[in-house]
Amino acid sequence: MRRYLFSINEEMSVYDFDVVIIGSGIAGLYSALHLDSALQCAVVTKANIDESNSYLAQGGIAAVMSPEDTYIMHINDTIKAGAGLCDPEAVKVLVEEGPENIRTLIDMKVPFDVNADGDLQITREGGHRTRRIVHCGGDATGRETTIQLSKIAMQKDNLHFFFETFLVDLLTDDNGVCGVLVKVGDDFKVLRSRNVIIATGGCGQIYQYTTSPLGSVGDGIAAAYRAGAVLQDMEMIQFHPTTLISDGKASRLFLISEAVRGEGGILRNSRGEAFMQGKHELADLAPRDIVTRCVLAEMERTGDQNVWLDVSSMTTEFFKERFPTIFNECESRGIHLTKDRIPVRPAQHYIMGGVKTDIDGRTNIKGLYCVGEAARTGIHGANRLASNSLLECLVFGRRCARYINGNIVPSYNENKKIKVESKIYHKKLDIGFYSALEAKIKQIMTAYAGPIRSREGLRTAQAELDALAEQIEDAHLSLPYEFKVYNMLQVSRKVVEAAIARKKSVGAHYLTDEEQ
Ligand code: SIN
Repeated sequence: MRRYLFSINEEMSVYDFDVVIIGSGIAGLYSALHLDSALQCAVVTKANIDESNSYLAQGGIAAVMSPEDTYIMHINDTIKAGAGLCDPEAVKVLVEEGPENIRTLIDMKVPFDVNADGDLQITREGGHRTRRIVHCGGDATGRETTIQLSKIAMQKDNLHFFFETFLVDLLTDDNGVCGVLVKVGDDFKVLRSRNVIIATGGCGQIYQYTTSPLGSVGDGIAAAYRAGAVLQDMEMIQFHPTTLISDGKASRLFLISEAVRGEGGILRNSRGEAFMQGKHELADLAPRDIVTRCVLAEMERTGDQNVWLDVSSMTTEFFKERFPTIFNECESRGIHLTKDRIPVRPAQHYIMGGVKTDIDGRTNIKGLYCVGEAARTGIHGANRLASNSLLECLVFGRRCARYINGNIVPSYNENKKIKVESKIYHKKLDIGFYSALEAKIKQIMTAYAGPIRSREGLRTAQAELDALAEQIEDAHLSLPYEFKVYNMLQVSRKVVEAAIARKKSVGAHYLTDEEQ
C-alpha cells in the first residue's frame, strides 16, 4: 500500500495552526466552537458548508429530553439496535451527555421546533421505544443546525476557513501527526499542526445509491488509514429503508425520514398489505437493518421495484408543516400526498465503523483525532439507532475539543519550510480510466457488499477490487478527482476485507451463507 497519494519531493512553505479540523459538518463545526479561543484553528472543507451529510440530515437529534424518558431506556434502545456490538461505556457517555449538548445548541440559538406552549417538539423513529428526537424546520434539522453553527463559527477570530480545499494526506513523523497536505486549486499547501481532527463523514458514494452527497467517499478514513490509524467495524454499513425512488441516474437519493413512520406512516406492498406487521414487535419502527431486509424481501416476493409509504393517517396540513422538505420534494416529482403513496426503497445511508477512537476522539496516532461518522467510537455497534448520529457529532466533538484544550501539543517552530517527501510515481492514466474505475467500484460494492451478502460474493468483490487496485497503485495522482477515486477504492477494500473477516450475520452485516 502506498503511504502517500501525492508525488512530491521538495521543501514546502508551511502555514502554522494549533489545530486543523478537516470537515465542516456538525462534528467539525461543533468541535471548532468548543476549542479554546486562544487556539488558532484551520477548518478545511473540500466543498462548502452546504455539502455534508450533516446538512442533509432530516430526522433530528436523539436525547433524553422528556419526563417519560430515561437514560437507561435510551442506552438500552441504542445497544439493542446495535445488535450487542456496542461499547457500553461509549454509549453511556453518548446518552448521559446528550441533553446538556442540546441545551448548548438552544443557547446557540439553533431553532428547534416547539409546541404552542414553548416546549420542544419530540418525535420518534425506528428502534426508539419512546418519543426522543428533537428537530428543526420540521425535517431540516441538519440544515438548520449547520447553518447556525457555521454563522457563529465564521464570526470567531481564531477559526480560519479553507473552502474547496481537498485533504490529500496526513503528514506524520516520529512524534505523531505533524500536519496535512491539501490541494487548493492547482496548488498543494502544507497546514502544519500537531493536533488534527478528522471530521470528514462517511463513504456512501462507494455505492451506486446512497443518501450521502457526492463528496462522501471516505477521504478522511482513507488518509488516516494510510497514516497508520486503526480502522474498525468497516463492514457495518447501514442502509436506510425508505429513500424516494428515482428513475434518473443520480447516485444521491432523496431520504424519506424515518420520522414519517414515527408520526404514523405505514409501509405497504403493491397489494396494500402492511407487511411489517408481525415481523418485529415494533413493526414499522423496528431497527433500520431489520426494516431494510423486510423491504427487500417484500420486493423480491412481489417482484416490485419498490414498496410504498402510506401517510394517509396524517392530514395534508399536518404533513406539510411537519415535513416541509419531503412534502415539497414529493410535489416537485408529481407525488401528491393527498392521494398518492410515496414509492420508496432502501439505499446506503451510513457507516457504523471507521477510524477507531476512544471517548475523547483520540486515535492510535498521537495528535490525530476523529469525530462524527468517520469515527468508530463503539456507540453504534452493528446498527446505528436513528438520530444518534448528530448526537454523536455533538457529544464526541465537544469531548474531543475539550481534550485538546487541556492537552495541546505545540505546533509552531522557527523553520517555516518542511521537506515533503514521497515516492515519485510516473504512470499517467487518463480521466476516462478514473471515471470507469469509479463506476466499477460502485457496481462491485452494490452487487456484493450491500444489505444482503454472501461469503462467496464478498470473495468475488475482493478479487475484483484487488485487480483494480493493481492498476492504480503506482499511478501518478495529482487531481482531487484522482485522489477521490483512489480513496473510494481503498475504503471499499477495507469494507470488503472486514466483511469477509466477520463470518456470522450480525446487525447490518447479513450473510445468506454464514459459517455454522
Ligand atoms: C432519518 O431521518 O430517517 C434519518 C435519521 C438518521 O439517519 O438518524
